[in-house]
Amino acid sequence: MRSKLVAGNWKMHGRREMVAGLLSALTSRLPQGVDVAVCVPSPYLDQAADVLAGSGLLLGAQDVSECDDGAYTGEVSAGMLRELGCHYVIVGHSERRLRHGESSQRVAEKAAAALRSGLVPIVCVGETLAERQADRTEAVVAEQLAPVLALGAAQVERLVIAYEPVWAIGTGVSATVEEAAQVHAAIRAALAGVSPAAADGVRVLYGGSVKPETAAALFAQKDIDGGLVGGAALDAEAFLAICNAAVAV
Ligand code: 13P
Repeated sequence: MRSKLVAGNWKMHGRREMVAGLLSALTSRLPQGVDVAVCVPSPYLDQAADVLAGSGLLLGAQDVSECDDGAYTGEVSAGMLRELGCHYVIVGHSERRLRHGESSQRVAEKAAAALRSGLVPIVCVGETLAERQADRTEAVVAEQLAPVLALGAAQVERLVIAYEPVWAIGTGVSATVEEAAQVHAAIRAALAGVSPAAADGVRVLYGGSVKPETAAALFAQKDIDGGLVGGAALDAEAFLAICNAAVAV
């Protein structure tokens, strides 16, 4: 049985005071019965790790280099993130695919680098509105997943996947339960092609305008194992309500 996971992606938001305040608010009322993580901006990982120590709220980063330490100006290695206390790292978020030209091959290399350092990658996939309108959703997701699944069963069984339709991110328009469930089922079928353990064990999160009002119905779907939450993760009440929705199902 897969446990639910709710991960907040703070994106490029936060200052020291906000990090301290939001994390204390979350740790003081963290629900049991769901895994919860926050992916904070890199400059605040160290501060966040101090606040979170022993709290049960897990730390994540938002990106990682596919390279091990070396002459890569501006990049952050998986080893560095591990030393800073990260458990998770998001790879292949659509904001990076679109803004930084990250290919699916490179996303798979980032996932592999994360796994080599003992991090759990949260691999993001999802179609644009134009791709959905052209009826290419499942094909696009399959293409994005292919190099990741090619890492092999031993690697795939250790990662998390997040389905985030690009048109639902930050728009207030979530995929419907039916739309999400259909893509999650397709991802589950792709995982079954890797190994039975991947099909049974890999958590597939939904992301894209998850709100307290919509979370429960999404998380009740058998192939939706939690959420990757953007805007609502910046508000303690909203984020905790989403975490509690995951406990309730
Ligand atoms: P929103 O929840 O703000 O739509 O963002 C989703 C997201 O991109 C999480 O990674």
